[in-house]
Amino acid sequence: MHDYLAPVFAQYPLPVARAEGVWLYTPDGRRVLDMYGGHAVAALGYGHKGWTQALMQQAEAVNFQTNAVPMDVRLRAAQRLVKFSGLPFERVFFINSGAEANENALKMAFAVNPGRSEVIALDQGWHGRTPGAAAITWGAMGKWYGYPRTPFDVQFIPRQDVAGLAHITEKTAAVFVEPVQGVGGAFDIGASFLQALRKRCDETGAMLVFDEVQCGMGRTGQPFGANLYGVMPDMLTTAKALGNGFPCSALLMSAKVSQAIKLDAMGTTFGGGPMACAVIEAVIEAIESEDLLANVRRVSAYIRETCIVGPVTGHQGAGFLTGLKTRVPAKLVQQALLAENILTGTSGDPQVLRLLPPFVLSEADVDVLSSALARLKL
Ligand SMILES: Cc1ncc(COP(=O)(O)O)c(C=O)c1O
Repeated sequence: MHDYLAPVFAQYPLPVARAEGVWLYTPDGRRVLDMYGGHAVAALGYGHKGWTQALMQQAEAVNFQTNAVPMDVRLRAAQRLVKFSGLPFERVFFINSGAEANENALKMAFAVNPGRSEVIALDQGWHGRTPGAAAITWGAMGKWYGYPRTPFDVQFIPRQDVAGLAHITEKTAAVFVEPVQGVGGAFDIGASFLQALRKRCDETGAMLVFDEVQCGMGRTGQPFGANLYGVMPDMLTTAKALGNGFPCSALLMSAKVSQAIKLDAMGTTFGGGPMACAVIEAVIEAIESEDLLANVRRVSAYIRETCIVGPVTGHQGAGFLTGLKTRVPAKLVQQALLAENILTGTSGDPQVLRLLPPFVLSEADVDVLSSALARLKL
C-alpha cells in the first residue's frame, strides 16, 4: 500500500492491531507490555468499559454542538475537573490539544498583563509545536521551530537555580513550568524551586502557569503537580490523560485570570464538544472510583524499588512519569526491551529511559519489566 503519511515521525518497529489493559497486540499476535501509554495518554489502559460506554452514550445522545449552545455535559465536565483538582480555580476553557491549551494560557497572561512583552520558561521545558507554545519550548528555535520569528520575547532560565529567578521582572507576562518535566527527562522540578517561583511571580505580577499536559491528571499519584508540591499556579493546562485517547485539553484559571476574560477573548470549534466532555467525566470517574491515584503511588514506588537493575542505575521524576537513569544510552535499552516485548520511551536526556504507563499497571506487570532489565546484556 502506498504510504501517504507525512514522514515526520520516527517509527517503532511495532505495528499495533488491538490492545487490552496494559497490553498491545501486533497483527501477528505478539503481546507487548505498554510502559509508554501512547505518550502519557492511555491513563485508563485500553478497552476501559466505563470510558467506552460514556463515549458511545454521548455519541448516540448528541455527538456535537458548539460552545454557543449550552450543554449540561460541558458544565458537568468543567465542574468535575475543578473538583478533581481540589484547587481554587474559577473557570475552565476546553480546547483540543496541549499546545492549544498553552497558546490560550499565553493569551490570557498577556490579557492580565497588558504592555508586557516577555515570557519566561525553563531550560529543558517542552510546551508544544504551535507558534507561542514552541517559542517557550527549550531548544525548539535551533531545531524545528519553523516560523520566521517568535510572537513575543522569550528567556529560558535554569531549571532549579534560584538565582535565575532574578530574570523574572515587571516586563514578564508569564512564567511557564512543567512541575515534573516530561520530554526533559522525567525530571522533578521540586517543591522548593516551585515555591520560590511562586514568590517571585507574586513580587513581579507575572502569571505562573503550570503546564501539566504530561504530568497532570493523576500521573504523579496526586491530581496535579500543583497538589504534589502544594503550589497554586495562576493557570494550569492539561491534556493527554484527560481524554484517555479522545483529543481534548483544558485551561484552568484562577480568580485573578478569570476577571480578565472577555467575550471572544478565546475561541474554538471542537473544544468542549460533548463527546470530549463525556470522556473527561468518565476519566475522572474511573480515577476516583477505581482508586487509581493510590495505585499510581504504590506501583510507582515498586518500580523504584525493583527496577534499578541491569543497565539502570537510578531513577528520577514522580509517580508514573518515571525516568530510569541508564549506564548506556537509553535508546539501546529501549531497543533491547522492545525485543523483549516491552515498550518504553526515551527523552531529551540521552541517559534517561522514560516510563509513562497506564494508571492501571500492577506490580506483576512491573515484575515483567524488572526481570527483562536484569536479563539485558548491554
Ligand atoms: C508538557 C507538554 N506540554 C505540551 C505538550 C503538547 O501537547 P500536544 O501534543 O497535545 O499539543 C506536550 C506534548 O508532549 C507536553 O509533554
